[in-house]
Formats: sequence, C-alpha cells, structure tokens
Amino acid sequence: MNDGIRTQPERLQSIIRRRDTLLGPGYQFSETIPLEFVSGFGAHLIDREGNDYLDAYNNVQGVGHAHKHVANAVSRQIAAVNTDTRYPQELLVDYAERLLATFPAALSKLSFPCTGSEANDLAVRVARFRTGGEGIIATRWAFHGRTREVASFSPMLGAGSPLGPNVRLIAAPDPRIVGSDCSLEDYMRNQVRSAIEDLERHGYRLAALIADSAFTSDGIFTHPVGFMKAVVDEVHAAGGVYIADEVQSGFAQLGDSMWGFSRHEVVPDIVTMGKAMGNGFPISGVAFRPEVSDEFGQKVSYFNTLGGRSVSIAAASAVLDVFEEENVRERVLTNGTALRAELEALTRNSPYVGEIRGSGLYLGMEIVKDIKTLEPDSTRTEAIIKDLRDRRVLISRTGPAGNVLKIRPPVAFNAADVSRFLETFAVVAKHRL
Ligand SMILES: Cc1ncc(COP(=O)(O)O)c(C=O)c1O
Repeated sequence: MNDGIRTQPERLQSIIRRRDTLLGPGYQFSETIPLEFVSGFGAHLIDREGNDYLDAYNNVQGVGHAHKHVANAVSRQIAAVNTDTRYPQELLVDYAERLLATFPAALSKLSFPCTGSEANDLAVRVARFRTGGEGIIATRWAFHGRTREVASFSPMLGAGSPLGPNVRLIAAPDPRIVGSDCSLEDYMRNQVRSAIEDLERHGYRLAALIADSAFTSDGIFTHPVGFMKAVVDEVHAAGGVYIADEVQSGFAQLGDSMWGFSRHEVVPDIVTMGKAMGNGFPISGVAFRPEVSDEFGQKVSYFNTLGGRSVSIAAASAVLDVFEEENVRERVLTNGTALRAELEALTRNSPYVGEIRGSGLYLGMEIVKDIKTLEPDSTRTEAIIKDLRDRRVLISRTGPAGNVLKIRPPVAFNAADVSRFLETFAVVAKHRL
C-alpha cells in the first residue's frame, strides 16, 4: 500500500486491502490515491463524504453518470425479459436500424459482442476469413483490447505482452516526424507499404490494418485529416481490409461527427465500437460491409451469450434517444471548441506545453521539458494530474512517454463544466506551466 493510501479513511484502506487479497492478477486503480464514488450525475462523481468531483476522464458514461432515461429503460427491461439474439426481439432490430443509419450506407450489417476487445477480436477474425491472410498492421503504441488475439497487436500493453509474429507496427500520424521533403500522406502510405512488404517477406499476407480513429493511446493525433485514403488504398491493393476502431473516438466524442473515421472521408470495411455505446452497460458493436462479412456468416456461426441481450439493447437505445433529444453532437462540438480555445490561451506562453491536440471532447496536452527539444516530461504531467485531482477535477494521461494530458470527459460535459474545468486548470497552470 503506498503512503498516500495510508492517509485515507480506515474504511477505504480496508476495502483496498481486501481487494488486494481477493482479486485476480493485474488490477489497478485509476488514481494513485483511490477515490470511492457512491453516486453521480452528468459529468460529476460524488464521494462518500459528499464531495463533488468534475469528471473529465470517464467517457464510458457518455450521456452522463446515472442518466435517468438510461436507468429507467434498463430497469423496465430487466423487470420484463432479457432474451438473447437466438430469440427475435423487435427492440434489437429497431436499434440496429437506428445505429446503422448513423453510418455510411455501405456499412449495413451489425454484430453485438459485449466489450471493445471482443469487437476487435471478431473484426480481425472476419478479416482473416475474408482475406485468407494473417498479417495485421497497427500503430506503434496502439491499444485495441485484451483477448489473446487482440493483445497480440496492442503494443501499449508493454513488453510483458508479446506481439504476434504476424504483426507490424507503423508510427502514428504525428506531422512533426515527417521530413520537409515528404507529405504526411506519403509518409503514412510508405510506412504501410513497407509493413506489407515485410509481412510478405515473412510469409504473411495482409488481413487488416486496424487504427483507432483518433490514435488516442499513441498520444491523440486528430489533425491533419485526409491521409487515410492513401493508406487504405495500399491496404486494399494488398488484399487487406481497413478496420476503424471507434471504441474511443465513436459516439460523437470528437464532436464533428458521430464517428471519427468520417473526418478522413474514407469508409472503412469494418468498424468496431464499445465503451459509451450502453452508457456503461456491457454492449459493443461491429459494423461490416456485407461483402466482407457475409461469407463468414454463412460458414461460421456467431453467437455471444451476453451480447445483444434485451437489457443491453434497451440501454443502447436509450443512449441514442438522449443523443437525439439533447443534440449531443452539437453540444460536444461547441463545448469542446471552447475548452480547447481557452486551454490554448491559458498555456500560450508556457515553455512546457509542446502541443495541444484533439477534437471535440477528446483533447491532449503534450507536456515537455523544453519546448525546443520536445523532450517528454512525465513527472510534470503526473504532478498536474495530481494537482487537479486535489482540486476535485479528474483527468489522466496517454502516449508512449505518458506525457500527454488526456482530457476526455463524458459527452454530457456542459458549459458550466467547461468553466469549472478551466478555472481549476488555470490555478494549476499558474505554478506548473
Ligand atoms: C481504442 C480501444 N479499443 C478497444 C478497447 C478495448 O475495450 P474493452 O476494454 O471494452 O475491451 C479499448 C479500451 O480502452 C480502446 O481504448
């Protein structure tokens, strides 16, 4: 137990001790000094003492913690029936129609696993079946999930989690690493081409390129857009498919549209989604072009006991209701744009802010030791997160060096939340930035 935890109330220390004794391997807390929340609303979490924390980190309860409409839909459905996809359910087909209507028409089939990892696992399985290849291309610090297959192309998991021999990594689209004689588009295309050649040299045909549409674990790279077309052309020329991982960037988190890939004006072959889909209820999705998935469907059955049950679908349908009723996407764009502009103004003269990146309510602030060398400063990054937490504002960090502040509130974040965030950030920035 760390010293910080020893300063917590005895009751909380006891929970932590019992948890250490009981839980399986690898569990971690979000905070160095864990917080125990007992209720929530909107982008607010309330601890046992009644303190109100502003949540600018947990985007899973996207439309808001304990949202009444979602809670009521789930309670009603769980008190009625909770059948699986082996039984006809009107709610499920209604939901599938509504969700698919948010995608380009080419993506017209939908499957329902429970988690983002399962969604990516299924996506890659279908890609392998369709292409007959096994090669996977992902970005250098990507995270796509934790099944054995998906962990094999999730380098963010670190040295203890081996990458597959069929996996090749490319750098994330950071325009600063591209030389002046080359465009970002050419740089990304060349990387993909080399990865495909290397895979082939080792006897692997390409199955898929998978990319988080905001490259969030790589450090959040949302701009510029447009280079994906060249990348996807290379993938298709090699017989592979393009999987857009929208587990982080989907459900309007980036503000300018419902799905992150649309910013690049390329229609993926497969799209995976999860997290905010059920506002914390376990449901994820995989949208397919039918020509990619149909043969798999005919020759290999798909069933997921807990995926697509009536209660999960009720939660996910209620989320879409809220999106429509509260104009969520527009709100994200307005509040995200205001938040970013103010953060830029606040840190304009700081020698420690390398760059502010992101879109909508998914923002990253790169913290460096020196603005000229851009050497990462993970110690200062951690101190900023702690200072904010001490003032009851929650954020986190991302990127290979852990030096990018991850400001990723639920899409419920409203104008008052933006103001509170900025007031608190300004206080911290005064002595840290
Ligand atoms: C981009 C991305 N894909 C997939 C996953 C895996 O989702 P899950 O934890 O629901 O399995 C995550 C989880 O953080 C993620 O960030």
